[in-house]
Amino acid sequence: MTVKHAETSPVTSLSAPQVGDHPASVDGAPRIEVFYDPTTYTLTYLVSDPASGDAIVIDPVLDYDVLGSVTSTHNVEALERHIRARGLRLRGVLETHAHADHLSGSQYLKRRFEVPVAIGDRITVVQETFKGVFDLDPDFAVDGSQFDQLLHDGQTYAFGSLKVAAIATPGHTPACMSYLVGDALFTGDALFTEDYGTGRCDFPRGDAAALYGSVHDRLYALPPATRVFVGHDYQPGGRALRWETTIGASRDHNIQLRADTPEAAFVAMRQARDKTLSAPRLLFPSVQVNIDAGRLPKPHGNGLRYLRVPMNLRRPTDDDGTPRL
Ligand SMILES: [Fe+2]
Repeated sequence: MTVKHAETSPVTSLSAPQVGDHPASVDGAPRIEVFYDPTTYTLTYLVSDPASGDAIVIDPVLDYDVLGSVTSTHNVEALERHIRARGLRLRGVLETHAHADHLSGSQYLKRRFEVPVAIGDRITVVQETFKGVFDLDPDFAVDGSQFDQLLHDGQTYAFGSLKVAAIATPGHTPACMSYLVGDALFTGDALFTEDYGTGRCDFPRGDAAALYGSVHDRLYALPPATRVFVGHDYQPGGRALRWETTIGASRDHNIQLRADTPEAAFVAMRQARDKTLSAPRLLFPSVQVNIDAGRLPKPHGNGLRYLRVPMNLRRPTDDDGTPRL
């Protein structure tokens, strides 16, 4: 059966869910609906089986205004309304990794739909690393138990009638997973559209050589027609929003990592480029919440919640701000 791509139109906000949409009759091709958060450039996917109505959400966003330190559920409420309006049965929420640029909306969806929140099993490495960075309480578990399901590389999981194959794609973080559902691959921050490239590798435990192996050796081994749905779009050159490419287009045209790009060249490029990037605006709030499966920090005795923000992480200072050499 031919996969016929429906017309797509730019998505401007999460309250207007739009399409990367496919006919209900296509065998093995899940229906993909795309939600875009322009504040964090994040693409959230609602993946459903047209035959059964079973669905999963990948990488939902909880809104957070960092200046006022205020969360809101605008994005996930829109997602919830859409899921209910379409009569879908949500079966799970999947994270491609512990995001460093937005807070996860997974707990909201878990509560509203009573579904599990799943992530790659190596989240334990990320938890261990950041437990130290945030000096979290000794009882903060680093075994991934905050999540309902840990997904292992090479395994396929059923979420209702949807079958999700987990493909470990470390490099951006050690715990990054890509998810293959039918002919659709969700790459998170490992692989972006071919005119933008790949995810950065300079966060703690990031590894450019590992990312090369993930993309070049694993993702590029998938059939060229595999549809690829990326975790962010930054609209390079001011072009219209895009979220979809293919393995074939990535192999041939990705500006940072093609099938014929040598590992050393990629690693040198990635490391040089990462030195020029500033920290994501929501780095510390995001990671702190997301390693706890998207839960906000517990309230203190006064009823208020507090985030921890390390200062001068890479270069500690004296009390007056003087760098310690
Ligand atoms: Fe990320």
